[in-house]
Amino acid sequence: MYNGALRWGSFLGLRRDRQLPKGEQRMPIRKAVITAAGWGTRFLPAAKSQPKEMIPLVDKPVIQYAVEEAVASGIHQIIIVTAQGKHAIEDYYDRSFELEHYLEQKGELKLLDEVRHVSQMANICYIRQKEQLGLGHAVLTAKDLVGDEPFAVFLPDDLFHSQVPVMKQMLEIYQRYPGNIIATQHVEEEDIEKYGIIEPKKLDERVYQVLNLVEKPRPEEAPSRLGITGRYILMPQIFEALEATPPGKGQEIQLTDGLRLLLQSQAVYAYEFEGIRYDTGTPLGWLKATVAMALQHAQLGPQFKDYLKSIKV
Ligand code: G1P
Repeated sequence: MYNGALRWGSFLGLRRDRQLPKGEQRMPIRKAVITAAGWGTRFLPAAKSQPKEMIPLVDKPVIQYAVEEAVASGIHQIIIVTAQGKHAIEDYYDRSFELEHYLEQKGELKLLDEVRHVSQMANICYIRQKEQLGLGHAVLTAKDLVGDEPFAVFLPDDLFHSQVPVMKQMLEIYQRYPGNIIATQHVEEEDIEKYGIIEPKKLDERVYQVLNLVEKPRPEEAPSRLGITGRYILMPQIFEALEATPPGKGQEIQLTDGLRLLLQSQAVYAYEFEGIRYDTGTPLGWLKATVAMALQHAQLGPQFKDYLKSIKV
């Protein structure tokens, strides 16, 4: 535990958060930060010369699933934190007049619609993280673009398959539990070291008060089996917390550590989402997600299912 946390919280004069009276609405979440600045080391060599976020999953790049989830949850202002070598992401969300002209000439109107839709679906801006100093630092990079309002964070490696988009589920919880909210899921003991782990106190069906949180602990030190997954709703005070967060696991500024600091002055909740999460940042997770998404695909799904059934190994 960072010793200065308590003093730091009171020094900044942060108020302990409170539950709002029934019917009172929280400030809406208008902005999403999507972190896309990592090297993608778990996906080398594929990610050597293209952003890992642009690796296709069925017929869309991985990052597109996060953008679609944000939009489907009613969030249209998107800040993508990028880094050197990631300009393919900007090109993807930009208009391509030459391509559009070509498709128009060829009469490929459905494709034309799809291509245009990608560049029109959200209001996207970009900021570069100039040094790879960790997830907490990547979120901090978006401070001025977010401003003084609560916001959502999406880690695009984490892809969710759910009836209701996971961020939409979280926004509903946010109405009842105003404060910082982390999406969580149960993780196997052997996977504990891959996740931030929370110490939970159950409040409601699928909702927990977070009493503490630790980034990638050893299994014997983990406070529970509830792992942090890549969706967060954060209050703007997280930025001050991150500014005061020293490097942690892997010598990186960890979002988990920033949240632990924030815990001294604000409520942090965890929500066990309904749905399945895939870690597309690893080849195996990407394969599983590919199969799941391909089976759901309106055109490809039925044929792909028949093909899978026919495979003899
Ligand atoms: C990050 C977070 C970690 C969280 C994980 C979920 O780790 O630091 O707390 O559990 O995302 O995907 P990363 O996977 O980027 O190392």
